[in-house]
Amino acid sequence: MMGGLLALVILVSSSLLMFPSPTASLPLCTDSRSPSALTTPLTFCPYNGSTCCNSTQDSQLQKQFQAMNVSDSACASILKSILCAKCDPFSAGLFTVDTVPRPVPILCNSTVSANSSQSNQAETDFCSTVWDTCQNVSIFNSPFAPSLQGQAGIPVNASFTKLTSLWQSKGDFCKAFGGGSLDESVCFDGEPVKLNSTGAPSPPKGLCLEKIGNGSYLNMAAHPDGSNRAFFSDQKGYIWLATIPEQGSGGSLEIDQSSPFLDLTDEVHFDTQFGMMGIAIHPNFAENGRLFASFNCDKSKWPGCSGRCACNSDVNCDPSQLPSDNGAQPCQYQTVIAEYSANGSASQPSMAKSANPVEVRRIFTMGLPFTAHHGGQILFGPADGYLYFMMGDGGSPNNSGDPYNFSQNKKSLLGKIMRLDVDNIPSVDQINKLGLWGNYSIPSDNPFTEDNGLQPEIWALGMRNPWRCSFDAARPSYFMCGDVGQDIYEEVDLITKDGNYGWHVYEGPYHYASEGNTSVKAENFILPVLGYNHSQVNNKLGSASITGGYFYRSTTDPCMYGRYLYADLYAGALWAGVETPENSGNFTSSEIPFSCAKDSPIKCNSVQGSSLPSLNYIYSFGEDNRKDIYILAYNGVYRVVRPSRCSYTCPKENVTDVSTPSPSTQPSDASLLVYRYSSLVCLVASLWLFLWGNM
Ligand SMILES: *[C@@H]1O[C@H](CO)[C@@H](O)[C@H](O)[C@H]1NC(C)=O
Ligand SMILES: *[C@@H]1O[C@H](CO)[C@@H](O)[C@H](O)[C@H]1NC(C)=O
Ligand SMILES: *[C@@H]1O[C@H](CO)[C@@H](O)[C@H](O)[C@H]1NC(C)=O
Ligand SMILES: *[C@@H]1O[C@H](CO)[C@@H](O)[C@H](O)[C@H]1NC(C)=O
Ligand SMILES: *[C@@H]1O[C@H](CO)[C@@H](O)[C@H](O)[C@H]1NC(C)=O
Ligand SMILES: *[C@@H]1O[C@H](CO)[C@@H](O)[C@H](O)[C@H]1NC(C)=O
Ligand SMILES: *[C@@H]1O[C@H](CO)[C@@H](O)[C@H](O)[C@H]1NC(C)=O
Ligand SMILES: *[C@@H]1O[C@H](CO)[C@@H](O)[C@H](O)[C@H]1NC(C)=O
Ligand SMILES: *[C@@H]1O[C@H](CO)[C@@H](O)[C@H](O)[C@H]1NC(C)=O
Ligand SMILES: *[C@@H]1O[C@H](CO)[C@@H](O)[C@H](O)[C@H]1NC(C)=O
Ligand SMILES: *[C@@H]1O[C@H](CO)[C@@H](O)[C@H](O)[C@H]1NC(C)=O
Ligand SMILES: *[C@@H]1O[C@H](CO)[C@@H](O)[C@H](O)[C@H]1NC(C)=O
Repeated sequence: MMGGLLALVILVSSSLLMFPSPTASLPLCTDSRSPSALTTPLTFCPYNGSTCCNSTQDSQLQKQFQAMNVSDSACASILKSILCAKCDPFSAGLFTVDTVPRPVPILCNSTVSANSSQSNQAETDFCSTVWDTCQNVSIFNSPFAPSLQGQAGIPVNASFTKLTSLWQSKGDFCKAFGGGSLDESVCFDGEPVKLNSTGAPSPPKGLCLEKIGNGSYLNMAAHPDGSNRAFFSDQKGYIWLATIPEQGSGGSLEIDQSSPFLDLTDEVHFDTQFGMMGIAIHPNFAENGRLFASFNCDKSKWPGCSGRCACNSDVNCDPSQLPSDNGAQPCQYQTVIAEYSANGSASQPSMAKSANPVEVRRIFTMGLPFTAHHGGQILFGPADGYLYFMMGDGGSPNNSGDPYNFSQNKKSLLGKIMRLDVDNIPSVDQINKLGLWGNYSIPSDNPFTEDNGLQPEIWALGMRNPWRCSFDAARPSYFMCGDVGQDIYEEVDLITKDGNYGWHVYEGPYHYASEGNTSVKAENFILPVLGYNHSQVNNKLGSASITGGYFYRSTTDPCMYGRYLYADLYAGALWAGVETPENSGNFTSSEIPFSCAKDSPIKCNSVQGSSLPSLNYIYSFGEDNRKDIYILAYNGVYRVVRPSRCSYTCPKENVTDVSTPSPSTQPSDASLLVYRYSSLVCLVASLWLFLWGNM
């Protein structure tokens, strides 16, 4: 675990040299939860509305404050505000730096740049104010003790201390507690955090793509060794290791379809709604060779496909009473996470060209009640190293409505995002005792520790069918998921610990009239941060299905930097969400036009009768080790490249950089139009409809 995290930290920091280090700033509490809404103000701390404290914590802070026995009223008032910053809806950003918690919030420092996104920090030097006001004041159990900050200072052993007896100088003090000069972070200036309400920057003129591969893939995972390689997997059960060409080299993806890294097609049940849904490469793969596949299997075809049914007595569900779906028996199909190893096939795992097809370990097996909505993506959290597993509501014979209310049921793993520790495998006895679904342990801070109604695997609930989640490479606390809607709304959720995203009580922001079961409530449900109505997507199937993407963090297209890119599977439409003010969690989005670079290594097919590139279904997105973004579509693999290659104007682009050639030809006006794929009816066969289940 430690080794893996360490390697990851090095990887992330070296690739982000140009950008601020990761911090958590959006409204988020120190325990990774979303702030909750108060209707009456706290009695001690000056917070109302959105806050990270409840009345219990408020009175604890009051006791802590009183115990400090501060006589000086000016200093007391400052100390109170500092303690109460725990209740600030931005407390995670104020108290957590690079995942290490602090005893006091980051105090706004004089070095704060005037163009940071926080409004009230330019003139204030709150850190100096704290020192000047409190330096001679005795504080009992001072929160400013160097040991609490994990830093060297003057060693003291005294219950009543002055700042001057803890720190040599104001400079030392502010070196330890000051901050906020980074663009992505917030700091505390004595008042609840307010962000500078800058207007939304104008959206990019368009997204320039180049086609570098012909294959249809569902997943891409960058090689954890930091190289220019990535794993690609398809729905049938193949995983390939490919080399990604330099941009502008004219090369295409080097992928040898005839020699997969791993072939799981015998194990995988492949059908329109089933297959290999996810892969995850262990962050420490270069040393331990561990990789994981998430797929569906058929109990009647493969003996390894056998697990407990998700419909069981714990969730008041009787499998023998379930209606048959497409002729399938309940739990005939299962969802599996299996571990494989690339050990032994080369001198070290990063040199490996293949993995051993013999399963090392079964991480998870669960029988599916029906044939739709079973997500299946797996991802390692960049900050915690845990495996996140996305699961849909399981569908129904007509694929709709979550009629058994699995998503809101805290005892069911359907309609959930799970968080598993695959680095500490417990004994069989422990697994049986905890009633786990395989070989993994439960992270000690999963939300069940505070809500024992929850199954221990659950991180978030109320999902319908999470289709493509990602962590922001610059801010790991931004964990975004597309969640496929039912009849009217496709949503993007910002996933927080124990967050409830509403389904099937809500579909996006709308109340969903569930079949029969109107008594079900979604406690404190969290609204999506982005989304679109089905009516906004015009295509002849009349259907929509979101494909969640990534925060764009590459320098390739500076006009896209910091925007969250996502798509509709059917409509071929792309959107970019922008957060204003930055770190606020307040997103607005605009559909962005796209076109294909004239010098694309593989010629892009055009939509009939136009010059617009035809991607066909947009299954997924990918991100490489340079943070460049890929679109995985039915028609191939597309990379986002420099805007000038499509003659899109982006003033921030360094056009003197000749590392990639600019096309000499001007694109036609048509290529600047918003592209909508409107002739889906001409597509034949393998309609890939498992996400959107309400045809
Ligand atoms: C606290 O917030 C609630 C909900 O926003 C509002 O109704 C109430 O008036 C606020 N109370 C005070 C004292 O500001
Ligand atoms: C306040 O939150 C804490 C920690 O989550 C919890 O243990 C406690 O029960 C809550 N108190 C109230 C009154 O909700
Ligand atoms: C703090 O002040 C109160 C009241 O003045 C006093 O009773 C208490 O003993 C003091 N605490 C300490 C630790 O000195
Ligand atoms: C917000 O930031 C802009 C620059 O980004 C600055 O010009 C403006 O003064 C700031 N607004 C406030 C209220 O500080
Ligand atoms: C604190 O003590 C120092 C040294 O005795 C003195 O110079 C300074 O003015 C005092 N500050 C306050 C706010 O009393
Ligand atoms: C202070 O020193 C005493 C005796 O040396 C020791 O027992 C005590 O644990 C120390 N307290 C702290 C907070 O370090
Ligand atoms: C805060 O300012 C002091 C100088 O006043 C500086 O030494 C320190 O590095 C700053 N801290 C941060 C985190 O920027
Ligand atoms: C602040 O603005 C200056 C000049 O406009 C710019 O060079 C600098 O990069 C900006 N700093 C941040 C943190 O955005
Ligand atoms: C959210 O963003 C929109 C668009 O930029 C802006 O108009 C609005 O003021 C923002 N809301 C808040 C609460 O900042
Ligand atoms: C992709 O397909 C096109 C059209 O069939 C073909 O010309 C091209 O050689 C293929 N490229 C690669 C890299 O497979
Ligand atoms: C692969 O090698 C690493 C390092 O020697 C070891 O920790 C791991 O257990 C091995 N895995 C398998 C499946 O043999
Ligand atoms: C633009 O690119 C050129 C060539 O790579 C480089 O020399 C120059 O420093 C870059 N300019 C900026 C502002 O990044």
